[in-house]
Amino acid sequence: YRNLRVALLGAGSVGAQVVALLQKHGDELAQRAGAGLELVGVAVRDVDAPRTADIPRELLTTDAEALIVGADVVIELIGGIEPARTYILQALNSGADVVTANKALIATHGPELFAAAEQVGAQLFYEAAVAGAIPIIRPLRDSLAGDQVTRIMGIVNGTTNFILDRMDTDGEGLETALATATELGYAEADPTGDIEGFDAAQKAAILASLAFHTTVPIDSVHREGITSVTAEQVASARAAGFVIKLLAICERLTDASGTEGVSARVYPALVPRTHPLAAVRGAKNAVFVEAEAAGDLMFYGAGAGGIETASAVLGDLVSAARRHVIGGPGIAESNHADLPVLPISSVTTRY
Ligand code: HSE
Repeated sequence: YRNLRVALLGAGSVGAQVVALLQKHGDELAQRAGAGLELVGVAVRDVDAPRTADIPRELLTTDAEALIVGADVVIELIGGIEPARTYILQALNSGADVVTANKALIATHGPELFAAAEQVGAQLFYEAAVAGAIPIIRPLRDSLAGDQVTRIMGIVNGTTNFILDRMDTDGEGLETALATATELGYAEADPTGDIEGFDAAQKAAILASLAFHTTVPIDSVHREGITSVTAEQVASARAAGFVIKLLAICERLTDASGTEGVSARVYPALVPRTHPLAAVRGAKNAVFVEAEAAGDLMFYGAGAGGIETASAVLGDLVSAARRHVIGGPGIAESNHADLPVLPISSVTTRY
């Protein structure tokens, strides 16, 4: 079958894991996609920089633009606005599909990028941009497209959830907990983006745009971080049966003047200990969705981390590859692995 040329831009903690997982499971992913997935190169700033997983030296290049030429799918994992935006536009304009984890870029330049993709019939996939490994983009865009989402409440920043959890359980201060979160690799290079709520606000803008089928500009998201949350506030919330969580709340509502619209806001909120979001501990993320017909849904899992986020990136890669396969297997059923069903007597279950 057809071989697709895959170019990867960026080999940080997510990019290096994408390469490692492609090497480990590439054949199986190709079967699912119905097309070969040939990693033609990995563009980096410095070929000698240390990496979290080994990448074959011959794949590394510093020339991203040359790598994009001729690629069928470009995976952008550089982060930030430039040069990521220019590379993505270049890839889309050449007809390649693009997979990205870049929340800042989607939140600020989404409409420009989606328009560029539409113009040439390419597609931009960004499942990894919000809440890492958790599938939330497709559920909002596709699975819930027939419903009316009324509200989303998300814990979408792992670093701040980790810090607030430590303050709640160990009585630890913000500074100490942040140092641990940074050590564990959850925090952004500049953790201001996490603790001041910028990262969560970007994700709120993306979620609100998808859920309400509109464009929510990042500037219109109300934002408060967790720097003013004190140990005393955490303790009195606890005593009253609440836990403080940094929530991204996106709602469809009618204001006092009767105008219908959308509100997106990020702030430290009091969550009753009985609410499912209160059970989201450590650096985990969760998105609680309320819809008219579906009722309440909750999506839970790892919102950060190299290999976890790589899972979402590779899912997008398989989806992108399937688009390229003419007459290839349908998206829902490509059961190539043909694994036998094991008899119950040969299986040890945990539950
Ligand atoms: N710094 C982010 C977090 C990483 O803590 O959730 C994932 O976007």
